[in-house]
Amino acid sequence: MQHSALINVMIAAARKAARTLKRDFGEVENLQVSLKGPGNFVTAADRKAEETLKTELIKARPGYGFLGEESGTTAGTDPSNTWIVDPLDGTTNFLHGIPQFAISIGLERSGTVVAGVIYNPITDELFVAERGKGAFLNDRRLRVAARKQLGDSVIACGLPHLGRGDLELGLRELSAIQSKVAGLRRFGAAALDLAFVAAGRLDGYWERNLQPWDMAAGILLVREAGGFVTDLDGNSDGMFTKRHIVAGNETIQRELQTLLKAAA
Ligand code: IPD
Ligand code: CA
Ligand code: CA
Repeated sequence: MQHSALINVMIAAARKAARTLKRDFGEVENLQVSLKGPGNFVTAADRKAEETLKTELIKARPGYGFLGEESGTTAGTDPSNTWIVDPLDGTTNFLHGIPQFAISIGLERSGTVVAGVIYNPITDELFVAERGKGAFLNDRRLRVAARKQLGDSVIACGLPHLGRGDLELGLRELSAIQSKVAGLRRFGAAALDLAFVAAGRLDGYWERNLQPWDMAAGILLVREAGGFVTDLDGNSDGMFTKRHIVAGNETIQRELQTLLKAAA
């Protein structure tokens, strides 16, 4: 499949970082049995992946700024272009030897995400989107699912847990959605949750307490696959500032957003 030069740069960076990440994941699986666990090792793997991504992306587009989960903001000489990168989305899964994690790279241009790549090194699934040019999984064009009934829908979410999020609110939201859907999932990698919505595997997804690097590439993927994304108040450009998101096809997204808003 023929991609633009920009997407090729992003894919090359993702594949390079993925090689080490995949090796490190194999090592993490071995470390599970040790009492200390693989915690420090995973932190190092995460940082290493970001360093590779940052080096490769800045080498290819020297003026662009960089926002990464591990290293924060690096200003570029070109203020209109910024890479938004999560080197390892799904850290808890990675740490536990669960192969549901990904590298996520978005490019924000003048306030809009114009390119996104999400890559799972274990399944070798490469999700790619460019603004106005569609969304793809490997070489296959993606469309969001067409289901119109919540009762037929499988929905993913994020859940509060020890030390993170508002448990009471989370429970209210769960009970608002749980009784109305065919199935709920909590996979633990926001970038892949969004990629799965784009691929029509999931009918919808919502989560609170996210960061731009969790969502940037995924938002574009869903939209380029014909889906809708807003924050939980229904604004289509509030996700990065409000830090919450709801995605799906037009009908499911709207219904989820309405139910969640009423539960909040
Ligand atoms: C996390 C994952 C997870 C979501 C968390 C994120 P990380 O990212 O996307 O699914 O529930 O809110 O922080 O820490 O694994 O990069
Ligand atoms: Ca993340
Ligand atoms: Ca991360």
